Amino acid sequence: MQMPSLSSDAHVIQGIFYKYLFVGSGAQFRVYAVYTHDDRPTRRVVKVPLDFDETRKAISEPLRRLAVHDSEEMFDELADKRTYEVLRFKYDVPRLIEGILGEDKIFRRKIGNLKMLQMPIPSSKPDNGAYHLPTLFTQDFVMTLDEYLQQFRLATNPYMRTLELEAIRQLEEVVDQVISLNFTIWEYGIFEFVFKPENFGIRFSANGKAELIWIDLAEHITDLDEATSILKERRWQHAVLPHKVDYQFMPTIIQNYFIEACDKSLTVENLNKYWRRKTNRIEKARSRKLRMREIVTQDSKKAVGLWIARHNLSQSLYQGFLPHTIDDLAMPLSDVEQLVSDREYLTAGRVIPIEEKVERHTAELGGTDLRVFPVIRSTFSQEGKTL
Ligand SMILES: Nc1ncnc2c1ncn2[C@@H]1O[C@H](COP(=O)(O)OP(=O)(O)O)[C@@H](O)[C@H]1O
Ligand SMILES: [Mg+2]
Repeated sequence: MQMPSLSSDAHVIQGIFYKYLFVGSGAQFRVYAVYTHDDRPTRRVVKVPLDFDETRKAISEPLRRLAVHDSEEMFDELADKRTYEVLRFKYDVPRLIEGILGEDKIFRRKIGNLKMLQMPIPSSKPDNGAYHLPTLFTQDFVMTLDEYLQQFRLATNPYMRTLELEAIRQLEEVVDQVISLNFTIWEYGIFEFVFKPENFGIRFSANGKAELIWIDLAEHITDLDEATSILKERRWQHAVLPHKVDYQFMPTIIQNYFIEACDKSLTVENLNKYWRRKTNRIEKARSRKLRMREIVTQDSKKAVGLWIARHNLSQSLYQGFLPHTIDDLAMPLSDVEQLVSDREYLTAGRVIPIEEKVERHTAELGGTDLRVFPVIRSTFSQEGKTL
């Protein structure tokens, strides 16, 4: 996927080593594509965490439109609560690249080679000498699923768009990959609970095959009971409910396939089947290895160490960052400071494509069953002839 070019109307931050083009934001991060100072794309994005006010602003509009509050006070309370929740989930992101997850090359690829940009930021308040440490991440630049889906908007209307059979097949394959990506993270004991289509990206191999990438896996939990009860809510439906304005609306043409595929595969039975399958296997294998070494060692001190290591595996396997999970972009501190303090991105927000609005609105009016009949009037109507 080509990174967009640095046009003059785009919101670009000029750093010392790099240039940063704002490409989008959600409720947790704002994201910039990274270019070298002579405009060459690095093919990576940097994800800058939003602070409390930014997060609150990001969640407020959809929350207000969902109208679950009776008064302004109740809304304020709800918005604060939701903001804290959203902020909290960000702290779990490093888990995705720690320990055995960071070791797994295929898994890393599926989350766009997410890396941490570790960088202590001196506090802007003078004299207190403190550092605060917003964790920035980097990731491969990919096409968002939303962009990819544009070509399928309004496709149920043959006058608006004609689609190649091949395109539909690829789309179905992409939906199938939504399912398999969920299975992949379940195998690591991770459950993503929002099921938002906008959290995926896509890239194409040289032979044109589409590969789905999970670009935003921040909202996840690791508790099986909680996961089970959320799964039963079938939240993927939100992507086809026109009033769920906090979800991108799935193109009409794929809605049935999407819902059927999710209903069929994202089941409690499959959750139990896949849950921690990989982690359990790795834990067992490593434990067996340590046990063997413990048995054969002549050194009693070493044997105790191995025994302790074996009994700590359930924690130690999930901790620690390998060098390749820390980014080596060598981003200057002043660049990071500029990125963290950027607020101009707010005026360069995402414009919801008109086609998405039209599909949502049509569904609101009664979905695909809606038929519009032209009104045919006789020119020699008898109506009004009172003479
Ligand atoms: N790897 C990426 N490549 C291209 N665009 C991205 C990438 N990651 C995020 N974006 C853009 O930035 C937006 C916000 O990023 P996301 O990771 O979803 O953060 P949030 O948790 O705030 O929703 C996305 O909706 C997308 O438009
Ligand atoms: Mg997102």
